[in-house]
Parts: sequence; structure tokens; C-alpha cells
Amino acid sequence: MLEPESLERTGLLEGGASAAEVVVAYHERTNHHFHRYAAALGYMDWAIQPDPFRRYVGADLVRLPLPKAGHPLPYWQLYRSAAVPPMPLSLASVAIFFRYALSLTAWKQAGNTTWPLRANPSSGNLHPTEGYAILPAVDHIGDAAAVYHYAPREHALERRAALDAKRWSELAESFPEGSFLVGLSSVHWRESWKYGERAFRYCQHDVGHALASLRIAAAALGWKLVLLDSISDGTLSNLLGLDRDEDFPAAEREEADLLVLISPDSPAPLLTESKPLTAHGSGVLWQGRANSLSPKHRIEWPVIDEVAQATRRGESSPIKEDFSKFPTEEELFGTPVRDGLLTAEKAILGRRSAVAMDGSTAISRATFFRMLARLIPTQERQAMPWDAIPWRPRIHLGLFVHRVDGLAPGLYALARDPDKVDILKGVMHAEFCWQRIPDCPPGLHLYLLKEGDCRALASTVSCGQAIAGDGAFSLAMIADYKDSLAAYGSGFYRNLFWEAGMVGQVLYLEAEESGIRATGIGCYFDDPVHAAFGIVSSEWQSFYHFTVGAPVEDGRLTTLPAYNFEEQQ
Ligand SMILES: Cc1cc2nc3c(=O)[nH]c(=O)nc-3n(C[C@H](O)[C@H](O)[C@H](O)COP(=O)(O)O)c2cc1C
Repeated sequence: MLEPESLERTGLLEGGASAAEVVVAYHERTNHHFHRYAAALGYMDWAIQPDPFRRYVGADLVRLPLPKAGHPLPYWQLYRSAAVPPMPLSLASVAIFFRYALSLTAWKQAGNTTWPLRANPSSGNLHPTEGYAILPAVDHIGDAAAVYHYAPREHALERRAALDAKRWSELAESFPEGSFLVGLSSVHWRESWKYGERAFRYCQHDVGHALASLRIAAAALGWKLVLLDSISDGTLSNLLGLDRDEDFPAAEREEADLLVLISPDSPAPLLTESKPLTAHGSGVLWQGRANSLSPKHRIEWPVIDEVAQATRRGESSPIKEDFSKFPTEEELFGTPVRDGLLTAEKAILGRRSAVAMDGSTAISRATFFRMLARLIPTQERQAMPWDAIPWRPRIHLGLFVHRVDGLAPGLYALARDPDKVDILKGVMHAEFCWQRIPDCPPGLHLYLLKEGDCRALASTVSCGQAIAGDGAFSLAMIADYKDSLAAYGSGFYRNLFWEAGMVGQVLYLEAEESGIRATGIGCYFDDPVHAAFGIVSSEWQSFYHFTVGAPVEDGRLTTLPAYNFEEQQ
């Protein structure tokens, strides 16, 4: 067992290194190797386990009603733009939005121990992601525009700052009527407490899951959601009140991650000319002090601060890319999906990670193709949740297929951008056959690379986790990493994890809809994964793993309602 003092906690590079060099050094340093995991404490220091719930003591608490169970919206309709008439912004719609996006969805109990689970997943269930909303005046929420922090345990909004009407109208002048903003931030300490230096990666995955979760919740209300990718991290931190030293006297700080605009209608054309956002100055009255999450920290991980710093963004122009070569819905799905098993509510609130897979259940080819098709943006930019982000996919899949009826087990590749097929061919093993799959919809660039039983390989490279070999399929999310950093700057390191997390969130819900389950896999051996696909260039790196299959429930656990007032609904 390592004592905190014995861990090497030096910085990444000597002074003078560029931001891109720091990012690359961080990524290499936090790879897991067969013979050495990325630096971490190696055990749980339970006495200082971080509180998973941030609260702002002294801020007014606005309780959100728990929406009545039984909303009939079918899950598949979430993906049909314009199928859901936009709900007006109200206490009820804001309550549904946060319920579907970031709320608690269950408590689990084993013996005398209980722990909460949420709509959004998190590595180690540590939940570093915090959510904020900037809302106009809404009846029964507040009679003036304000900045709120979402408190998941209470399903409530904490009012952090009231904005006067002039300030709100300046902020919102380029947004459609009825819009509001949501920001996400990360408490890195919550993850590094357990996972040490690799924790920055996991925090960013979690942000990606939460971003998709927000997009999906908005879709259930007929709302659009777009990432405001040109805002600087400094402005965002300022807007959310995260730069207010006086409100965090003894509390762990939060790193600003992203801001999204949510509106009843498509906001895209309005955004291109939007003015820089700010919330400082007159008309802003802050309240509340952040709680401290651990009584003390016995160890810090300075490389996380360094990579956070190296990936902070300045003000920039919004990314605009051409999707004209992307498939249409028909090309992706063959017959577009117009029915299904679950309601949106059941899929979203019922989502759970499998802790074990049964090692026997197969899925149909149609199910497999549909799940993968959900991961591809369409030409018209209507495919949810990919309509929320402006860049073309940078994450492609290397698949370990174990049990898909009518499909040979083996290694497969899915290019999520049609233009990247040839590049991927050049990057992977020269001996791969790159065979198209019969009956696969033409818009799905799915290829067999090599037939064979890869169950043991999948589980070995996923830190020996059986779930990677015991499901129907598992996968590595392979990023064209260095080209992305060169194209968009070192801050885009975060975006690559966000995109990976979004892929994961869609797979989670698609698995629910198919009557099976999925699990995110952050623990994998980086270079052995690359070797499995013959990737030798460090330009391409695996950013996340996932597994999908039939779950085996842990009979020792009891499931309790998320909120003790739930039973009374
Ligand atoms: C980024 C990320 C990485 C994860 N890595 C693993 C993993 O390596 N192994 C595993 O069994 N579960 C992993 N999980 C699943 C989490 O443990 C799970 O999300 C968490 O316990 C909460 O449970 P829930 O997903 O059912 O809400 C991961 C989840 C995320 C979001």
C-alpha cells in the first residue's frame, strides 16, 4: 500500500512547455500499462471521502416538483426532431428537465450502507459534475432572472445570484424567446480522491455524459440545445460565480467546463453573431457559500491542475463544419425507427450500468445496427444529440463483437465520419480485411476487420474486467487525437472526452431500449488496446471503452426510491 508521501507528484514538464505539450505529456503519463497503472493512491482513504453533494449554504432553495410518473412519450420520439411540441418554460418544465438530466434516480442498499445513483452516470459513482442554470424570471422559481445551482439530492435549485432585468436582457438579447442557459463544471478532487492522476480524463467523460443527458432531457420537452463553444472558460467561470474566492473560503473549487443554450426553437443562426457573455458588475447579487467536501486532503495531484490550465479556452469563433457528406436518416437506419419498447421516461430514469454480463445472450443484427446508427450525425444536422455540438465526429469505434446473431465474432470498425474510412485503414493493421457487412444500412460505415473470438482480448485490455468479454459487444473509442488538437487547439482535449461520453450516453439509453444494459469502461490498458487494432502512431489514441450486453443483477442489493416523497406521487 502506498503512503501519500511516497508518491511521485512532480509536475508534467519544466516551465516553458506549450499547452499542447502539457496535454500530450499528461495523456502519456496517465496511460495504464500492463505493468503499471497511472499514479493513484491505490486504496480508498475513507476518512476523507468527498461529499458527492455540493451545496451553497445561505442560498435560497427553490424546490422543484417531482414530475408524476407515467409520461407517455415514446423513447424513439426523442430522436425525431419536431415530433414533440416545445413546452413553455415553467416550474413544471424546468422540473422535468432537471429530473431527466441530472437528478437522483435510485438509492441502492447493501446491508447498512446506502448510496444514490443518478440519471447521468459517473466513473466510480463519484459525480464530479455540477450543474448550473441561468433562467429568466419564471413563476414559482423566481421573479427575476437568476443564476442557480442544481442540488440533485433535494431536486432543487439554489439561487446563487439575482440578475436585474437589464442584465438579463443584455445576456439573452441574441437568444430566442423562452431560452435559458445551463453550465457544467467539475470538482476534480471528487475523482482524484480515488483515481489519482487519470481523474481529469474521467471528469471530462462525465461532462460528456452529462452534456448528452441534458440534450436528451431537452428533447423530451421539445427543446433544442446547443453548446456555446466560443465562450472562454474565464467568462464561464465568471458567469457561474466559480471565480468568487469569497464564496469558496474552505471549499474545493470547481473547474468551469461548458455552457449550453436551451431554447424552444433552433437557435443556431442567432448564435453566430452573439456578443461575449458576462454576468459581473452591477445588478448581480451573489448569495451562498460552497460547502467543503472533504475534511482535509492528504494528497494533491498537481498534474491535474496543469492539464486543466493547459486546456482552458479563450474567446474564439464558433466552429462551423460541413456535414453535407453525412448520411440521411434513411441511409443510416434503412427504415427509420418509428416504434419501440420503452417510454422516454423509463429509458432515462431506468438507465443503469451493468455490474456483470451473462456471457450468453446475443442481440440481433438489427438491434446492433440501430444502436450504431444512433451514434452518427446526419446530413441535415437533426440527429439528436449530435445536433448539440458543431464539430464533425473525432471519435471512431474499434469494436469487439462477441454475440450478434448473424455476424461473425471478431474485430470491427465504425467510422463515424465517412471521410475518415481511408485514414483509419491507413492507421490500423495492414492485414485487416475491411469487409462491408451484408444488409448493413449504406450510411453506416461499419467494417469487419478480422474474424475470431476476441472475448479474452476485450476483457484483458479492459483492465481484466469480465464485462468487456461477457456482453454482446464492447468497444474502444479511438480519437484522431493529435490532429484534433492541431485543428482546434489544446482546449479540445476536453471536447474529445465529451464526445466519447456522449457516445456512451446514447449507448446506455439504446441498451435500455433494447432490454439489455451497458457500462462505461474508463479502466483500460491504453497501448495494448492500440496494439489490438494495430495502431502504432501516437496520433490516434483510445479515449474510452464501453460494453453492451445482458446484465446479471446483484441479488444482494436492494433498490430504493430516489426521493422519499416519490412513493406519495
Ligand atoms: C467515465 C466512466 C468510466 C467508468 N468506468 C467503469 C469501469 O471501468 N468499470 C466498471 O465496472 N464501471 C465503470 N463505469 C460505470 C460506473 O461505475 C457507474 O456509472 C456508476 O457506478 C454509477 O452507476 P449507474 O451508471 O448505474 O448510475 C464507468 C462510468 C463512467 C461514466
